Amino acid sequence: MKKVMLVFGTRPEAIKMCPLVLELNQRPEFETIVCVTGQHRQMLDQILTCFDVHPKYDLCIMKENQTLFDVTINILAKFKEILEAEKPDIVLVHGDTSTAFVTALACFYMQIPIGHVEAGLRTHNIYSPYPEEFNRQAVDLISRFYFAPTDMSMQNLLSEGKKREHIFVTGNTVIDALNTTVLSDYVHPEIKWSQGSRLVLLTAHRRENLGEPMHEMFSAIRRVVDETPDVKVIYPMHMNPVVRDMAMQCFGGQDRIHMIEPLDVIDFHNFMSASHLILTDSGGIQEEAPALGKPVLVMRDTTERPEGVIAGTLRLVGTNEQTIYDAVTELLTDQDLYNAMAHATNPYGDGKASKYIADILLAEL
Ligand code: UD1
Ligand code: UDP
Repeated sequence: MKKVMLVFGTRPEAIKMCPLVLELNQRPEFETIVCVTGQHRQMLDQILTCFDVHPKYDLCIMKENQTLFDVTINILAKFKEILEAEKPDIVLVHGDTSTAFVTALACFYMQIPIGHVEAGLRTHNIYSPYPEEFNRQAVDLISRFYFAPTDMSMQNLLSEGKKREHIFVTGNTVIDALNTTVLSDYVHPEIKWSQGSRLVLLTAHRRENLGEPMHEMFSAIRRVVDETPDVKVIYPMHMNPVVRDMAMQCFGGQDRIHMIEPLDVIDFHNFMSASHLILTDSGGIQEEAPALGKPVLVMRDTTERPEGVIAGTLRLVGTNEQTIYDAVTELLTDQDLYNAMAHATNPYGDGKASKYIADILLAEL
């Protein structure tokens, strides 16, 4: 029996790794072990509860206002003895977080093979997103198996000289998750509150946007809401205190902006489905929104997810206040533009990525 260890620590990793955990748990050929770093605490636990996943190990590393040094040092120090005790045949990591990078580094030090789920995304700008572009490139440097979500991500890996036989295009496991969460009879008090208005769903958290860029983003949104009486905004706030302080400062006193606690993934996907448009600097939301046919203005200068831009659902609008204000206003007033962006296309596979990854592991290990 092969021992497969999955390691993750933040909300988006959990959303995309839990479907794979559930799939591997059904395969008697594997002993499946889950280790969470606890890089996120509340936002991770919310997702584990939703998927009913119970980690064997929890490194519990989160500290308030943690730095990249804190996260890196604490995972590296605590993970060594788990690897020594378990000696997995393969460790699976996801995406581009510090959890993914440091886990892969520890595995490299112990010469344990790494499988990279969501491999091959690139902006080719090491500072954007920061530090994620470095993390994903570094993980791919030392991975044995690449589970690329799309042909474009496979091409990125091939152009860096990764071996074709190590790359598998599987789709993105986020579609596996999305297929189970959106409900036709969904009800929630916040959605009830938004009825009769156009609902703008907002998320924002990127490290490189903390400070002035986030102030510009939030100021643009505040202006739009102040000037457009039929628009309401719901912002499930990230738990980073720096983000929350900025949101309170910019949105306070505007009744048509609701700042709420992070939603669990079932609620969030249904909020996306009920929204008129989405404003975000998130990565994962750029993958989910095209499948739901919701226009997204991405408040970043670069994206590693060009598939949604090509499909017409996403538009990059940067972090300048006036540019964001103009783009949101245009989308709210130009019905043809709105219709052109609001069609459902899903570039991220058929919702069976977890199954394909499990099959590949079975064949390859
Ligand atoms: C991390 C990832 C980022 C990912 C994001 C998803 C890195 C370097 N960054 O960024 O790639 O896009 O998660 O959300 O890996 N906090 C809580 N409770 C939580 C979660 C966070 O209180 O459940 C607060 C803590 O004060 C923590 C801070 O948020 O110190 C920042 O968390 P951290 O994981 O370091 O960075 P994120 O910006 O969340
Ligand atoms: N999400 C969630 N609750 C929220 C906001 C987002 O479950 O209140 C989900 C969302 O559907 C997506 C993921 O979290 O799957 C995105 O996470 P985040 O924006 O924190 O990180 P990123 O994708 O930018 O790394």
